[in-house]
Amino acid sequence: MRKMLLAAGLLALSATTANAERFPPITDQVVLKECGSCHNAFYPEMLQKSVWQEIMSNLKDHYGEDATITNEATKKHILDFHLTNSADVTNTRQSGKWMEGVTTPAKAVTLAPRFVRKHSGIKPEIFKVKGIDSKANCAACHSGYVQGTFEDNEFTPIYRQAVKGR
Ligand code: HEC
Ligand code: HEC
Repeated sequence: MRKMLLAAGLLALSATTANAERFPPITDQVVLKECGSCHNAFYPEMLQKSVWQEIMSNLKDHYGEDATITNEATKKHILDFHLTNSADVTNTRQSGKWMEGVTTPAKAVTLAPRFVRKHSGIKPEIFKVKGIDSKANCAACHSGYVQGTFEDNEFTPIYRQAVKGR
């Protein structure tokens, strides 16, 4: 009986969220400050543990920027946050999706197979539109990014404008 109720509950949940992909919003203030100032903070569930380790151990040469953090405690805190929630550590539905098709670990969210699959239909010039500027600028297009939602209809005015007439 309990099992059936649980199953019914899960069905109801999946019906309301349809194909939605949800991530726990990043609320850690240290992470938001240190990793969300140059770009939107990225969801740890989208990359593997080894990749976060590599990113955090090489902040001096960070995708062409110097993102050095000198305070060791701060760095440790941020590393722990990413490792605890990484794609191959958390066992959630969405992290499983981001692991699909991963052979060698993707070194960036935009290189992950799931990202590539989901954005293959977008014309390359859209990513260059002023205000979008980069594939990594997730929040420029996904209006639910900070809340951790990626609904089919949740797009920013700048994205809607960019695709108009193309
Ligand atoms: C000084 C600015 C700066 C800071 C601070 C910074 N980054 Fe970055 N980061 C960048 C730039 C620039 C890129 C390349 C963005 C692009 O390709 O458009 C980048 C890219 C990334 C990417 C790859 C995005 C992709 O999929 O293409 C990840 C992951 C990332 N940063 C994580 C972090 C983490 C974790 C922190 C905090 C420890 C951090 N960043 C702090 C500047 C910064
Ligand atoms: C130029 C705008 C744009 C940018 C930038 C962008 N996306 Fe998207 N994204 C889209 C569009 C449009 C779709 C829907 C594609 C479709 O359904 O055919 C999509 C789909 C997705 C989906 C699938 C949602 C689902 O469940 O079907 C995810 C997850 C996603 N994006 C994550 C990201 C992440 C993470 C980033 C940044 C690293 C990002 N996107 C950057 C436009 C963008």
